[in-house]
Amino acid sequence: MRIFFVGDVVGRPGRRAVEERLPGLREELGADLVVLNGENIADGVGITPKLAGRLLEAGVDLITLGNHTWRRIEIAEYLRDADRVVRPANLSAAAPGRGLGFATAADGTEVAVINLLGSLFLEPARSMWELVDGLVEEARERTPVVVVDVHAEATSEKVALATWLDGRVTAVLGTHTHVQTSDARLLPGGTAAITDAGMTGPHDSVIGVKAQLAIHRMRTGMPVRFEVADGGVRIEGALVDCDADGRATAIEPVRVPWP
Ligand SMILES: [Fe+2]
Repeated sequence: MRIFFVGDVVGRPGRRAVEERLPGLREELGADLVVLNGENIADGVGITPKLAGRLLEAGVDLITLGNHTWRRIEIAEYLRDADRVVRPANLSAAAPGRGLGFATAADGTEVAVINLLGSLFLEPARSMWELVDGLVEEARERTPVVVVDVHAEATSEKVALATWLDGRVTAVLGTHTHVQTSDARLLPGGTAAITDAGMTGPHDSVIGVKAQLAIHRMRTGMPVRFEVADGGVRIEGALVDCDADGRATAIEPVRVPWP
C-alpha cells in the first residue's frame, strides 16, 4: 500500500495546487492514502475550519499541523471533535485536539498518524520525547501502519526521532523547514524517513514568503507584514510504500510543478 505525504501547504497558491491537482495526482501516483501538513494554509499561517474542510473535500484523508496551530483561533473549537485533523501531541494537554489520528486507506488498511513538534525555536509545552513511545504504542494497538509527522526546525531532532522509532513505525516524515531534503531513505529496521518532505506552495520566495519582505525584515530588523508569494508553485512531498505489517519498502521524494 502506498501513502502520499504532502509537505507544508502554504497559502492560497499551495491550497489551489492541492485542490486542482491532487485528485489526478493521487491516481497517477497510485496513492491509497493522502496525508498533508496544513498549518500554513490560511494566508501563510494557521488554518481555519473552512479551509480544512476544502482540503478534505479535495481528497486529503488526514491533515497534520504544527507550531502555527492556534494562529487562527477558530480552529480550536473545530479540533475539539475533528477526527481527520490532528495537531502536535506535545502542545498543552489543556488545549483542544489530539496528536494521534486514524484514517482508512483506499485498500481498506487503517493508518495511524502521529503529529509532534520539535523543541528548537518552537517551545512545545512538553518534549516530544516524553510522549512519543506511548503514542506509538497506542497507535499500534489498532494498526501496524503508523506515520509520524515531526514538525521541527532542527534536522538533528528529526534524524534522531527517525532513528529512535526505526522498526516501530512505517515512516517518520519531517516538516516545518519548507526545503525538501535529499535524504529519503529506508532505515535498517524498516522505517522510511526524510528530514523535510518539502513545501507545497510558491518556491520563488523565501520559504513561501515574498522574498523582498523577508529580506527587508532580516536586513533592517524592522517589523514587516509577511505576504505569501505566488511564483514557482510546486507540490512537494514523499511517497511511502509499505507491507501489511507496516514495514516500509520504499520512499521517494515528490516534486510536481503546478500548473
Ligand atoms: Fe511550522
